[in-house]
Amino acid sequence: MDNSFLRDEKDLRQLLDEVRDFALTFRSDDQLPAGSTRRDTPKFHLSDQGAGTQDAISVFKEQCAPYLVASPSNRYLGFVTGGSTPAALAGDWLASAVDQNPQAVAGRGDVSAAIELGAIDLLRQLFNLPEVFNGGFVTGATMSAFTCLGVARQWVAAQQGYDLARAGLRKPIPVLAATPHSSAVKCLAMLGIGSQNLIQVATLPGREAVDMDDLQAKIEVLNGQPFLFIASGGTVNTVDFDDLAAIARLKKKHNFWYHVDAAFGGFAAVSPEHAHLLTGWESADSITIDNHKWLNVPYDSGCWFIRKEHLKLQVATFQNSAAPYLGDPAGHFNYLNSGPENSRRLRALPAWFSLMAYGRQGYRDIVERCIGTARSFGKALTEDKAFTLLAPVRLNVVAFTLYDAAAQTVDALVQQLNDRGRYFMTPTTMNGTRGIRAAFVNWQNDPAQVSEIMSELHLALKELPIVPATPP
Ligand SMILES: Cc1ncc(COP(=O)(O)O)c(C=O)c1O
Repeated sequence: MDNSFLRDEKDLRQLLDEVRDFALTFRSDDQLPAGSTRRDTPKFHLSDQGAGTQDAISVFKEQCAPYLVASPSNRYLGFVTGGSTPAALAGDWLASAVDQNPQAVAGRGDVSAAIELGAIDLLRQLFNLPEVFNGGFVTGATMSAFTCLGVARQWVAAQQGYDLARAGLRKPIPVLAATPHSSAVKCLAMLGIGSQNLIQVATLPGREAVDMDDLQAKIEVLNGQPFLFIASGGTVNTVDFDDLAAIARLKKKHNFWYHVDAAFGGFAAVSPEHAHLLTGWESADSITIDNHKWLNVPYDSGCWFIRKEHLKLQVATFQNSAAPYLGDPAGHFNYLNSGPENSRRLRALPAWFSLMAYGRQGYRDIVERCIGTARSFGKALTEDKAFTLLAPVRLNVVAFTLYDAAAQTVDALVQQLNDRGRYFMTPTTMNGTRGIRAAFVNWQNDPAQVSEIMSELHLALKELPIVPATPP
């Protein structure tokens, strides 16, 4: 064996100590830019011999570290990015160190599958979801939707009289949605349903939530055909919720698969004041949750929840039918035959650690503090003549624009704010108006940040090459 492997294994404590020190400095560095301020990228070449881990650490520190951004910090307000709690980080490191593959049948000696089932159970308790759902871990909300809609597709085909997993797609699968996240539409493409085949349902005036009358009308047009409905349990721009309870009631009259994308909105269930937004999701056939959002575990982690009554369809979709060495797909519940991946890391461990460490109250505190921060920021923007809200602050995302909402000016402001490095936000467009989103999803978000955020916005405004119009 090459000596360098043995030498590195012998020096592992020292190497890991160095990595740990780097990680701790990184996490506590309050000066690190929140978004990328560099336009170049490092380049690498593969050496013949390799120079060992110590050398790789040094090269990483010199050539990669200068490009790192403080995405796990509370100054990163772009997209819907959570950061990682201390417990989640510890669990994540352990997941790599113990390197288990949670595929085997739980209860037969495989603790990793038992941890995954346990973490799912903890999440179900956190969300007050009934025990009618199975659940599992995937890389994020996109793969969760892929898993859920994959089974939904199988369900529609079964209603149409055939086994799609075996026969391939033979008939169109009608899909209805009002404001699906782009990743759900991407799933329709990946699943062969066709992104263009989405039947667009109208939203309520000035809202991103489904117009139930239009939904009813679009269902009538289908004339009794089975279909999928993708509901929004928190849209990405304004965290608007479809009326999940009204959709649940429709299940009594119509034959459809009810999927709820609650990637981050599902965490509203943790706050008694906001849990009502999710009333009705317990009747869904499937639910998407994204753990690297409000659960604050490191990338990459999301969950699917699918009703246990659909397990046969789920196994029909994801079974390893041609591999007797992987066991009988029809046997015990088994992750190998109920999700898109076969071999996986123990992705549940960071979630399990964080849920065990902080419990229901810990997560309630994170969620309510983020919502409180979003509300304070929304209030500050409303009181400031330079800005206007694009929508009321419904939960933890603030969508706003300049009084002078010319797209060029708004984009220049986002760029300038991000180049300053203290805070990072992302641009958006709502009803044709260019705007900015600030998402509060981090366990360290706090209303005390708002005055600094406002002053950063004003400093960025002053530095703009364009002078924005101001109110008369
Ligand atoms: C509502 C919603 N669904 C799905 C996704 C996709 O999540 P991911 O990028 O983790 O796959 C997002 C990401 O922002 C989201 O906000």
